[in-house]
This record gives sequence, C-alpha cells and structure tokens, in this order.
Amino acid sequence: MDYSSRGVRRPVLAVAALLLVGSLVVGTSRAREAQPLPVAAAAVGSRRAPERHGLSLDFYAKTCPAVDQIVANVTAARYRDFPAAGPAVLRLFHHDCFVEGCDASILIAPTANAGPAARAPPKVERDMEENRNLAQEAFDTVELAKAAVESKCPGIVSCADVLALAARDYVQQAGGPYYDVKKGRKDSKVSLAGKVSGSLPRANSTVDELLRVFAGKGLGAADLVALSGAHTVGFAHCVHVLGRIYDYRGTRRPDPLMDARLVKALRMSCPSSGGSARVVVPFDVSTPFRFDAAYYGNLQARLGLLGSDQALFLDARTRPLVQELAGNQTRFFQAFVASVDRMGSIRIKKGKKGEVRKVCSQHLLAV
Ligand SMILES: *[C@@H]1O[C@H](CO)[C@@H](O)[C@H](O)[C@H]1NC(C)=O
Ligand SMILES: *[C@@H]1O[C@H](CO)[C@@H](O)[C@H](O)[C@H]1NC(C)=O
Ligand SMILES: *[C@@H]1O[C@H](CO)[C@@H](O)[C@H](O)[C@H]1NC(C)=O
Repeated sequence: MDYSSRGVRRPVLAVAALLLVGSLVVGTSRAREAQPLPVAAAAVGSRRAPERHGLSLDFYAKTCPAVDQIVANVTAARYRDFPAAGPAVLRLFHHDCFVEGCDASILIAPTANAGPAARAPPKVERDMEENRNLAQEAFDTVELAKAAVESKCPGIVSCADVLALAARDYVQQAGGPYYDVKKGRKDSKVSLAGKVSGSLPRANSTVDELLRVFAGKGLGAADLVALSGAHTVGFAHCVHVLGRIYDYRGTRRPDPLMDARLVKALRMSCPSSGGSARVVVPFDVSTPFRFDAAYYGNLQARLGLLGSDQALFLDARTRPLVQELAGNQTRFFQAFVASVDRMGSIRIKKGKKGEVRKVCSQHLLAV
C-alpha cells in the first residue's frame, strides 16, 4: 500500500523565526523558575490508574506476541520519512480517547456523498470541524501499522490498540519517555459526529472549560497539565493563533499576555488575512521536534502558542503544576506516562461491545 502518493497537501512548517524567539527568551526564564513545588509534586500522578477497564500488558501474549515490535517497525520507518506524523499520531490518539473512549472511532472514514438523490450519509467523528485538521499522515501511519499487524496475526489486534502503541512509539522517538502500553481495547461499532461537540479542548478554551472537559473523562487538573505537555511537539494552523496576535477579544491588539517577540515572529508566518491555510507554527517555539519539558518553560516566559496553553500558567489551579513540570523533566516524564495511561483507559469497549476491524477506516461489517 502506498499511502504517500495520495496527493495530500502537506502543511508548511514555519519554524525558523520562531526558534530564534524561543532560544532568546526561554533559557533565562526557565532557570529562574526552576524550584520544584512539593505540593504540586504530590498532586501530579498520585491517582492510580483504574483497573476496572481490564486492559493488560500481555493481552496478546498468546495471540500476537510481537505486536509491539511490529508496530514499532512501522512507526520507526514512518518517523524517518514524515517526522510530522509523530505529533499528529499523538493528537489522533487524544482525539480518539476523548470522544466516546479509546476505540478507534476517530479512524472511520467519512462516507463519500453519493449525490443529491442519495440520502445524506450519517456523519462520522472525522467530519466534524474539530477533527478536520487531523493530519492524513497520522491516519496513514495507523493504517500501515495495522496492515503490518494483520499480515502476522490477522483479526486479532484492534485498531484502538495499534493507535495507542503508535502514539507511545512517537513519544519515545522524539526523545520522550518509553512506557509500556496496556492492550485489550476493542474498536467501536459506530462513529458519530454528534458525539464530538464539547468533548475536546479548543484552542481558546479557558481553564474552567479545560477542567470541565477533562473531568468529563475522569481526568483531573494534573492530567490536564501533564497531557498538555504533548504540545512539546507538534504544530497548529495559523487560524488558531490569529485572534491572539491581531485582535485579542475584539481589542484590535495582540494578547498582552503573549511575549511581543513571539507576536512579531508569528505575524511573519501568519498574516492577518490571505495567508495560506497550510501554514503551521510550532506549539513549542524553543524545541518543536523534541519531547522535553521546554513547553512548560515557554509558558512561564509567555511563549505559549494557544490561549489554552498560556492559560495553564495564568490560572492559580494549574500554575503550580506548570512550574513543577517546567523545573524537572524527569517529573514531567513520570506525570505524562501516568496521565497517558489514564487517558488510554477511557471507556474501553470489551467483548461484543466492540469489534476488531481489518482496515481501521471501515467497520468490520461495512461492505
Ligand atoms: C522489525 O524489523 C526488523 C528489521 O527490518 C526485522 O528483522 C524484524 O523481523 C521486524 N520485526 C517484526 C516483529 O516485524
Ligand atoms: C472559541 O473559538 C470558537 C471557534 O473555534 C468560537 O466559536 C468560540 O466563540 C470561541 N470562544 C471564545 C470565548 O472566544
Ligand atoms: C525531579 O523529579 C524526580 C522524580 O519525581 C525526583 O526524584 C528528583 O529529585 C527531582 N529533581 C529535582 C532537582 O527536584
């Protein structure tokens, strides 16, 4: 299968000017705020992962013992060819888990409209605005990894598990922690656009909204801050920052809480109008390709890209957690691993409640 020849238009990375900004500012501020906070340390990752979901490390020990390695082979090759697929897969995993649980419901392909005479097909999660910008590379990566797994152990491993494994691989490949992934998720039998609204954080979400969305998934403030650390890699489209750099809340001025140098650099990449919809800018302006704690240092230096990132440092409930993780990368890695395990356990489907798809973009019984 050659997914690379589909003619998908790749995003244009606008990094150089921003990197300069990041390296100028971040080093000093991180050193200044590096004191760890014992209170926050106790809060991060202190809750144990629930056991009720029945996921296990050795779920495929008898049926597909090499599954981790099969997926890793594919993701390693993909990472060399398309580094941007890494953060994209991580984001895909997040968007899967937050809508109806980690069940590969996000992977179901939009149904082609069969013309005006046909009844409009039901819309799937991928049709929703919140999911439109998910990178095709990420879907392709999961599909490739799944095909490799199918060739060795047909009909055994769910797409939801393949996605969880691929996300883990990319964290490690970008320099982040390696962690074991529990398996045993089934794939969903439905994917409904109507389930998306209100289930995902938005680029302009307030901390209140973020906490509410996370609480709805059984996740707390510590999970919010730790999982937001995934923005240590990856890119956002300009549309998500235009408000902050040109017209913050109708003031016709930039967000006063964004460093002026970052505003200037972003304006070069993202014109107020007429810019290319393909341009993307890094979440982490200092080390956009490395999975490290720099994201949190950036927030301390007012170099957060999205309003919803920067808000984590402005709110008294999350600020101590940001400070804690900014000052100690080991702590960040521990917190991230604990939280991603909790996220990966949201609303797991077992037994007849789910399916094991052959192709991740299609339900098993779809013809
Ligand atoms: C992974 O790739 C290596 C090198 O190409 C190969 O030798 C090995 O058999 C592969 N492992 C699996 C489980 O596919
Ligand atoms: C956040 O952005 C969405 C569009 O992405 C918009 O509908 C909403 O009104 C915005 N909320 C605020 C508070 O600006
Ligand atoms: C960083 O966090 C780790 C793990 O929580 C801890 O063992 C270590 O002492 C911390 N380092 C510093 C400098 O606080």
